[in-house]
Amino acid sequence: MRISVIGCGYLGAVHASAMAELGHDVIGIDVDESKIARLAAGAPPFYEPGLPEILTSATASGRLRFSTDSADAADADVHFIAVGTPQAQGGYAADLTYVDAAVDGLIPHLKPGSLVVGKSTVPVGTAARLAERVAAGSEATLAWNPEFLREGFAVEDTIRPDRLVYGVADQRAADVLDEVYAQALEAGTPRITTDFATAELVKVSANAFLATKISFINAMAEIAESTGADVTALADAIGHDARIGRRFLNAGVGFGGGCLPKDIRAFSARAEELGRGESVAFLKEVDAINLRRRQRVVDLAVEALDGQIHTSKIAVLGVTFKPDSDDVRDSPALDVAVQLKGLGARVVATDPQGIENARARHPQLEYAEQADDALRDADLVVLVTEWREYRDLDPAAAAALVTTPTVIDGRNVLSPEAWRAAGFTYHGMGRP
Ligand code: UDX
Repeated sequence: MRISVIGCGYLGAVHASAMAELGHDVIGIDVDESKIARLAAGAPPFYEPGLPEILTSATASGRLRFSTDSADAADADVHFIAVGTPQAQGGYAADLTYVDAAVDGLIPHLKPGSLVVGKSTVPVGTAARLAERVAAGSEATLAWNPEFLREGFAVEDTIRPDRLVYGVADQRAADVLDEVYAQALEAGTPRITTDFATAELVKVSANAFLATKISFINAMAEIAESTGADVTALADAIGHDARIGRRFLNAGVGFGGGCLPKDIRAFSARAEELGRGESVAFLKEVDAINLRRRQRVVDLAVEALDGQIHTSKIAVLGVTFKPDSDDVRDSPALDVAVQLKGLGARVVATDPQGIENARARHPQLEYAEQADDALRDADLVVLVTEWREYRDLDPAAAAALVTTPTVIDGRNVLSPEAWRAAGFTYHGMGRP
C-alpha cells in the first residue's frame, strides 16, 4: 500500500520505518527540515534499538522516503497522523495544535477514497471532530488507531503489537487497516474494531491503568518506609496472583516520559470538561504519589549528606526517563539531578544515551560520558535510571572510586547485600 506518516518523532519515525519494513511504500513528512534530512540519510534523530537497521534498509531500497511538504503525501492511500499532543502551556489539557495543523495541511491533498488514520494520543471526542472536518474538505474518511508502543521496544511493538484497535465509522476503513496490518493479523495479533470514542479511550485508559499500577506500588513503598517492610518482596508476593501480575510493580523514583504523566493529566482535564472529573479524580492522587517519589530521593540525599550538601559531589547515574532510550521528557532522573544541584551540590550526571538531550534542557548540570568519571570522588551515588551497565556495576570498583561509599538506589535494582559487603551504606525505595 502507499502510506504517508505525518510527524516523524518517536512515534512517526518508527511507524514509517516499520510500515516500509512490512513492504509498504511509505513517505514520512515532518516540518522539521533537519530531522527530515537525517532520516532521509538513514540516521534516526533519536536513540531507539533496532531503528537504525530498518531505517537504513528501507531508505536504501526506496520503499521509504521523507519530505517536509504535505503535498508529497498526495499519492498515498492511507495517511497516519503521528504528531505530538504535548501538555498545553499553563494547564493540564492536551495541546492539539499539531494534530489540527496536520489534518488541515493534508485535506487539500487527499485523494477520493483515501483514509486518514489518527495515531496520536488525543482527548476523547477529537476523532469525531476531525472526521467532520475531513468529510467537509475532501472525499476521504477518518479512522482512529491508537498506538501502544513502548520506547526501547518501539520497533517490535509496531511490527508485532499486543493488539490492534480500530476506531472506525464504517467497515471499509477497517478493511483498509486490515490490509495495512496484514502481517501482524496473520501472526495472530488480536484486533478490536470499535467506535471513535472507545478507541480514543482505550489508549488513555491503558496509560492511566499503568500509571496507577506504578503509583500503587509506590504508595506501598511509602507505607513500607514507615513500617520497616520491604516493598520489593511485597511486589513479588502480590505479583504471583495472576489477577495482579508482577509487571509494572517496580517501586522507585516513579514514572516519567512523554506519555504517562501528560496523558493522565490530559485525561483528568478532559473528564472535567465532560462533567466527569470525579470519575478519574484518583489520577490526581496517582500524579501526586508519583511526584512525591522524586522528592523522597532528594530528601534521602539531603539526609545522607547530613547538612554538607553544599560541599558535596553527587554522582547521578542516569538522566533518561527509562533505560534504552535517550528521551529526557519529564524524566524523574533529570528532575532529581536538577533539584540536587539547586540545593547547592556539585552534581555530575552520566547516562549512556541521554546526555545530549539533558544538556540541551539543563546546561547548568555537569555531565560525564563515563560512569567512572561521575563516581570518582563522589560523596553520594544516586542511581535513578536502571540502565544495564548501572545494574551491573561492581560495588567494590565503585567503592574504590568514591570518597564516601553511600548509594541511593532510586530504582531498587542493586543488591543491598553486595553493596553493603563492599562497604556502602545502601538506601533503597521502600526497602529497609
Ligand atoms: C508508555 C506505555 O507503556 C506505552 O504503552 C504507551 O504507548 C506510551 O507510554 P513508555 O513511556 O515508553 O510507554 O514507557 P514505560 O515502559 O511505560 O515506562 C514509563 C515510566 O514508568 C518510566 O519512567 C519507567 O521507569 C516507569 N516505571 C515502569 C516504573 O517506575 N515502574 C514500573 O514498574 C514500570
